[in-house]
Amino acid sequence: MSDQDSMPGQDNDAISTQQSISRRALLSAAAIAAPAAFALRSSDAAEQGSRHKQHNAKVALVTGSSRGIGAAVAKRLARDGYFVTVNYVGNADLASSVVREIDAAGGKAIHEQADVSDPRAVRRLFDVTERSFGGLDVVVNNAGIMRLAPFSAMTDADFDRMFEVNVKGGFNVLREAARRVRDGGRIISMSSSITLLRSPTYGPYAATKAAQEIYSNVLAKELESRMISVNAVAPGVVNTPLFTNGKTEQQIAGFAQRTPHKRLGEPADIASVVSALCSEDGGWVNGQTVFANGGIV
Ligand SMILES: NC(=O)c1ccc[n+]([C@@H]2O[C@H](COP(=O)([O-])OP(=O)(O)OC[C@H]3O[C@@H](n4cnc5c(N)ncnc54)[C@H](OP(=O)(O)O)[C@@H]3O)[C@@H](O)[C@H]2O)c1
Repeated sequence: MSDQDSMPGQDNDAISTQQSISRRALLSAAAIAAPAAFALRSSDAAEQGSRHKQHNAKVALVTGSSRGIGAAVAKRLARDGYFVTVNYVGNADLASSVVREIDAAGGKAIHEQADVSDPRAVRRLFDVTERSFGGLDVVVNNAGIMRLAPFSAMTDADFDRMFEVNVKGGFNVLREAARRVRDGGRIISMSSSITLLRSPTYGPYAATKAAQEIYSNVLAKELESRMISVNAVAPGVVNTPLFTNGKTEQQIAGFAQRTPHKRLGEPADIASVVSALCSEDGGWVNGQTVFANGGIV
C-alpha cells in the first residue's frame, strides 16, 4: 500500500460505496498489522497532532496481565504502539504498576478488574475498553490458572475452578472478541506445550489448554472474510509463579535442563511471539497453534 493510499481525506465521493468499504477494510488491516508504522506513515496524523494520533491508535486487551506472561504481552504491545487494557482478577496493585510502567515508557494503558469466568464481568471489560479507546483490534485471551494432581487425588473444587477460568473463561473472552474485534484484527489464546508433553499430574490442566487450540482453529474459520487472524500460542516452561509455585529449586532446574537452550522461558520470549503474530508479517498464520517452548517438546 502506498503512502498516498493511506492518506485520509481523499475524495471518497468519486468512488463507489463498495470500494470505499473495501478501502477502509484494507486501511484497517494495514493499521492493525503495524500500528506504530501506520501512525508514522499517516501525514494527516503528523499534521493534526496527538488528538488525531489517538484516534488512529490501535487497541489491545490482554486478560490476566497484572503479572507473568500477560504483563509482558501488555508491555510489549504498548511498545508496539497499541493502547492497552490490563486485566486482573485480584492484584489491583500489580495491574496498576504495569499501567504505570507503560505510561512511563510513553504508552497508554488502563487497568480493569474482571473475573473471566463471569460472562457479565467480561462484557463490562470489553465495554470499558471500547469506551476508553474507541474500539478494539487485538484480544489476547491469556488469563489462566493451573492446579496439578494425579487423577486419583484431584479435587472437584480444583477441577471445577480450572474449567471455570480456563475453558468457560476462555469462551467468555473469545465470544466477546468475535463480536467486537475490528476487521483486520488479531485474537490470540494462551495454550501450553503440555498439550504435547502430557506429563503426569497435568491431565485436567492440559485438557483446559487443549480447548484453547480447538477454540482458535474453529473461530478462525467462523470469522472468514474479516481479515482477523485467530491463533493459539503454546508456551513451554515459563518463569512465572504459575510454573514455579509449589516446585523445588531442583525441580525447576530439572525442567530448564530439559530444553535444548538449558533455560526456562521468560515472559518476554512469549510476548515476542504474540507481537509477531500481531504484526503485518504474522497475518497469514491463522487457525494455528504456535509452540514457543525453546524446544522442550
Ligand atoms: N508459566 C508457564 O510456564 C506457562 C506455560 C504454558 C502456558 N501458560 C499459560 O499462560 C497464561 C499465563 O500464565 P502465567 O504463567 O503468566 O500465570 P500467572 O503468572 O499465574 O498470571 C496469571 C494472570 O492471570 C490472572 N487471572 C487469574 N485468574 C483470573 C481470572 N479468573 N480472571 C481474570 N484474570 C485472572 C492473574 O490476575 P491476578 O494477578 O489478579 O491474580 C494474572 O494476571 C495462562 O493461561 C497459562 O495457562 C503458562
